[in-house]
Amino acid sequence: MSLYPLLRAGLFSLDPETAHTTSITAFKAGITPYCMPSIDPCLNVTMAGLNFKTPLGMAAGYDKNAEAAQALYKMGFGAVEVGTITPKPQSGNPKPRMFRLLEDEAVINRLGFNNEGLDTIKARITADKLKYSGVLGINIGANKDSADRIQDYVLGAKAFLPLADYLTINISSPNTPGLRDLQGVAFLDDLLARVMEVHGEFSAFQNKCHSEAKPKNLDPSLSFRMTPKPPIFLKIAPDMALEDIDDIIRISLNRGIHGLIVSNTTIARPDTLISANKTQTGGLSGNPLFSPSTKMLAQCYARLEGKLPLIGVGGIDSGTAALQKIQAGASLIQLYTGLVYKGPDLVKDIYSCLTPYCKTNGFASISQATGTNHHDYL
Ligand code: FNR
Repeated sequence: MSLYPLLRAGLFSLDPETAHTTSITAFKAGITPYCMPSIDPCLNVTMAGLNFKTPLGMAAGYDKNAEAAQALYKMGFGAVEVGTITPKPQSGNPKPRMFRLLEDEAVINRLGFNNEGLDTIKARITADKLKYSGVLGINIGANKDSADRIQDYVLGAKAFLPLADYLTINISSPNTPGLRDLQGVAFLDDLLARVMEVHGEFSAFQNKCHSEAKPKNLDPSLSFRMTPKPPIFLKIAPDMALEDIDDIIRISLNRGIHGLIVSNTTIARPDTLISANKTQTGGLSGNPLFSPSTKMLAQCYARLEGKLPLIGVGGIDSGTAALQKIQAGASLIQLYTGLVYKGPDLVKDIYSCLTPYCKTNGFASISQATGTNHHDYL
């Protein structure tokens, strides 16, 4: 029997941000509410040169300061994306800035990239990284008061390429004024050119080092720590016109980006929302985001024709929703808000849906389901 309803009652008696901090504190102390038993090999996914034990990752924004990754891997996540991390530490927007929409199983947040900053988090990841038992994504962003936002991403890339299994360029948070302007054609092209220049320099350096001897006696399960050329993903908003998607895809392909994460939170407020908190300013996540973010995902899938892989995020709160996201075009999936409402059992529920789905259909890998129903979501 699940204990989460009890735990949830306790957490929901706290304001959302305190509940979040409490969960991070517990994870830091090594308290993991659920440990995943063995995972069927049909859930292994290879994407952008990385091996994931499962297609499910923890989305950015939960573990902003890279404090809880190991506990999340134990819970069964194949990847954890930490951040968003900005060059300088920043406290974010005034509180309260995170709101539950209980009746809608959703959250609105306007945190504004509160994080401890590049130096502190880099030191933490450096100290912890050999303990990680899954893929580590590092999500980078710009400081609110930055005079040169693109340079902030360059600094993030320089700091974290040597540590990340993959790096995410987050230009889609609605809570840093003007950040989404970076999705405009001229800015985006400049931004991606400059980050990919850093990636090119880093890859050349890695190639040189790789020809030299590898450390002896390395635990083979840690081999994923030595990602020679960490792929770079771009995380986009769900609130874009279809023409804008065309531009983003064109520029991403031209600049050699390795994948798209679709999507961040939405500034839209679907008519279906009923909770009083629906009027709060910020990004909406959770169940009401499933439909628009999945539509955006399917639109990207249809346009890309396999040229870039996609990570599908937004409103995954069940095994069925996870499968639908994959069938709409996702090679990998991520979630955050579903965990708030459903608890750690959600991870197990997702695998209990995906594994039999593979067996029934004779799929050696869940990857074979990617995009199979994308027409249904266009
Ligand atoms: C987020 N999200 C987010 N994304 C990101 O790239 N950087 C960030 O710092 C944050 N911060 C953040 C805080 C909170 C409280 C929430 C709920 C979300 C967005 C997140 O990664 C994801 O894209 C959306 O939440 C949609 O997925 P879910 O929550 O519907 O599964």
